Amino acid sequence: MVSALILAAGAGTRMKSDKPKVAHEVLGKPLVRWVIDAAHDAGIKDIISVLGYQSEKVAPLVEDDTQIVIQESQLGTGDAVNAARDAMTENGVIKPGSLIVLSGDCPLITPETIVELVKKQQETQAAVVVLTMQLENPFGYGRIVKENGNVIGIVEEKEASDEIKKIKEVNAGVYCCNAKELFKALDKIDNNNEKGEYYLTDIIGIQVKEGKKVSSFVLEDSEEILGVNSKVELAQASRVLRERKNKELMEEGVILIDPATTYIEETVKIGKDTVIYPGVILQGNTVIGENCEIIGNTRIIDSVLKNDIRVESSVIEESILEDKVTMGPFAHLRPKAHLKEKVHIGNFVEVKKSTLEPGVKAGHLTYLGNATVGRDTNIGAGTITCNYDGINKFDTNIGEKVFIGSSTMLVAPVNIGDNALTGAGSVITKDVPEDALAVERNKQIIKLKWRK
Ligand code: UD1
Ligand code: CA
Repeated sequence: MVSALILAAGAGTRMKSDKPKVAHEVLGKPLVRWVIDAAHDAGIKDIISVLGYQSEKVAPLVEDDTQIVIQESQLGTGDAVNAARDAMTENGVIKPGSLIVLSGDCPLITPETIVELVKKQQETQAAVVVLTMQLENPFGYGRIVKENGNVIGIVEEKEASDEIKKIKEVNAGVYCCNAKELFKALDKIDNNNEKGEYYLTDIIGIQVKEGKKVSSFVLEDSEEILGVNSKVELAQASRVLRERKNKELMEEGVILIDPATTYIEETVKIGKDTVIYPGVILQGNTVIGENCEIIGNTRIIDSVLKNDIRVESSVIEESILEDKVTMGPFAHLRPKAHLKEKVHIGNFVEVKKSTLEPGVKAGHLTYLGNATVGRDTNIGAGTITCNYDGINKFDTNIGEKVFIGSSTMLVAPVNIGDNALTGAGSVITKDVPEDALAVERNKQIIKLKWRK
């Protein structure tokens, strides 16, 4: 039986934020979720989250799939683990098996590492296996003190002598423990240290002294254990996770022209041979098909783009684009825009809650809101669906093969029949039958020699 404990009760003072540290996001996902998801992906089902500081803000992030325990005051990592004692107790005794302790501020930990760590602890029957790493700059981390190659203790930065500060092997803050042994050792830790905190790391020295089997598991990839304590480290974690995501996409056949300047969130899916240009931001549950080109400063959120689509310098929110749509530069889809096959929307066109049937063109300076537009209809430059009277929204229905003249105001609710035509500059307030011409405009007046 393997359980996981996620320490997420700390305030994160070094973040200098109003928000609890573990709720800060990288690649669109809160720090603590990265850790929980890694534990899940490692096959661990029984997960306990220790919350404390602003737990009301963290709980919604973890309550669906973990058991929450509260650490009333944040007295240190050892005290945080202790807060889970009741949750780990069954019939008056600590549940048998392994407990893997993870920090909610280490989003780079991988499921593979968790699996390896548990395997080592179980195979060697160790009281604890601590995950460690060699760091060029070990500042801030607990140092792994060894004697004859065996771990004998962990010393925190604040307590470290100059000699100990030179040690480059550091504590990742991830441990796989024999649960019973862990809670036994926790009874013996105190807070007689620089920070006045109960350090979880002290269990190592205690268990060594008692002759328990303690060992370390050295990680090769130093990026995996980065703890996020400040906003500088938040950006570092973001870079690493972005690089991982980008690499995964490229391995699946996506072309990223400059991965370093592309921001693609964890949840995004992209098909092969699609080209992503620099400056593109792809977020949320966005799914992009094959052979698309996403160019310029484009941001796409929670949208579905099928295949062979071209988008340039545009914003797309909660919308659907079918095959061969072309869009932009400088167009904006707001929620519930549905552009069917081969639709083209161009410069400064905004579409909201509207369906554009195949072949519709709106090339310039247009607003389409609460509208349906039939197949192959052409929307002239400067057209506006006047869908709002200040209180309510109304629909505009435009038929197939319609020609909407430039600068037509379509005052909703209004229906335009198939194959109809509106004259440029018309304010259309009444329905237009199919095949009809509708013009609403004063006669032009010419006054000769007026300027003289
Ligand atoms: C800790 C380790 C250090 C290790 C480093 C790795 C200790 C004493 N030190 O230091 O050896 O190198 O992690 O990143 O454990 N937390 C609580 N309750 C508390 C205090 C902290 O839940 O009372 C949580 C925090 O929210 C955080 C995690 O525990 O997610 C680690 O705490 P943090 O203060 O960041 O520890 P470090 O100083 O980084
Ligand atoms: Ca930390």
